[in-house]
Amino acid sequence: MNYEEARKKMSDIGQEHVFRYYGELSEEQRASLIRQIEETDFSVLSRIHGSTDGERGVFAPLAAMQLDEIKAREHELHDAGVRTIKAGKTAALLLAGGMGTRLGSDDPKGMYDIGITKPVYIFERIIGDLLDTVNETGTWIRLFIMTSEKNHDKTAAFLKEHDYFGYKEDRIVFFKQDMAPACDFGGKLYMEAKDRISVSPNGNAGWYSSMCRAGLDRILTDEGIEWIDVFAVDNVLQRICDPCFVGATVLADVSVGAKVVRKAAPDEKVGVMCLEDGRPSIVEYYELSEEMMNAKDENGAPAYNYGVILNYLFRTSELAGIADDRMPLHVVKKKIPYIDDNGNTVKPAEPNGFKFEQLVLDMIHQLSSCLPYEVIREKEFAPIKNPTGTDSVESARELLRKNGITL
Ligand code: UTP
Repeated sequence: MNYEEARKKMSDIGQEHVFRYYGELSEEQRASLIRQIEETDFSVLSRIHGSTDGERGVFAPLAAMQLDEIKAREHELHDAGVRTIKAGKTAALLLAGGMGTRLGSDDPKGMYDIGITKPVYIFERIIGDLLDTVNETGTWIRLFIMTSEKNHDKTAAFLKEHDYFGYKEDRIVFFKQDMAPACDFGGKLYMEAKDRISVSPNGNAGWYSSMCRAGLDRILTDEGIEWIDVFAVDNVLQRICDPCFVGATVLADVSVGAKVVRKAAPDEKVGVMCLEDGRPSIVEYYELSEEMMNAKDENGAPAYNYGVILNYLFRTSELAGIADDRMPLHVVKKKIPYIDDNGNTVKPAEPNGFKFEQLVLDMIHQLSSCLPYEVIREKEFAPIKNPTGTDSVESARELLRKNGITL
């Protein structure tokens, strides 16, 4: 793409202001801006007005495998899981491409130190969790780590510096997720530098397409990986590729297993597993009707009672059937750093515009079957989203302490 073409592409969508500093740029910077314009999909900008999530279908309950069944079948599930893991058919994928804006640290979230008497980094906790399975099964599980252009270098350098917290370097593969443009509330693109339009990671559903673009789906095929456990960086109390979960999903012969926790109250603000038009799906708490909230299963327990915790075991052979363009695009209000009229960087204290994301939970609806698998909230769910209060460093520390983990 040359300058004229880039200029036309931007003026066609009313975004010519991105050339505002063009006259001041070096040849190299000009080329970089034009390359970014060529590579970026700006069609998302048209989505800031109107509904983004589309029409929802007809909801019905989806039964979860509950704790009592898991306990009763523990040996069977565990054995099936260990067999699958030992055969090298299971991989793990850490979603670490997010910006962690609510936590407010300039570093990647995984570098955050949650220790009290000694340093305990979030990455250290996460890798420690996976190492539990490695040690239990005697198998080095392939670990994919998704970063973004915003945090890749720091993440990779930090993990190397810490010797991957005991993980085997040659079992880890990094890849960067794709980016989407960010704009103000009126739809005007922000600039993050004179030669660069503001972009941010395109949401955690980007993991599969970004992985394929990096050519890494070859590893899945070459190594015979049939299952991939996709999980968030910010749950510091999770079990990853744990044999019972793997075994339960494999034996249920479903497209995906989803760890779920029992809701604390019928109106708790979590996305709940269900069927939508006969396919697995997640209904947001604000979409739950009064009738759904009061619906009961055959045992008289609430029928929509299990919230997702962002830990899914995907059957790899079904991933190719998931199409990005069939997933809803979420338009999210966020704090977006930008350069002002004088070229100075501004870091806003409040949300100042929109980012565009596709979410991993929307991948579930494109699959034909799902096993919601119940875990105990106090033992497997300590998300860190904020510095204090709900889902925070404070609340996670408390849960870790209750689980006997020294910080
Ligand atoms: P969150 O939805 O909490 O987003 O991510 P975030 O960007 O980390 O935090 P905030 O909203 O800005 O405060 C849940 C998980 O998905 C990953 C995150 O790294 C985290 O593990 N994620 C999120 C990505 O990998 N890529 C994304 O584009 C967004």
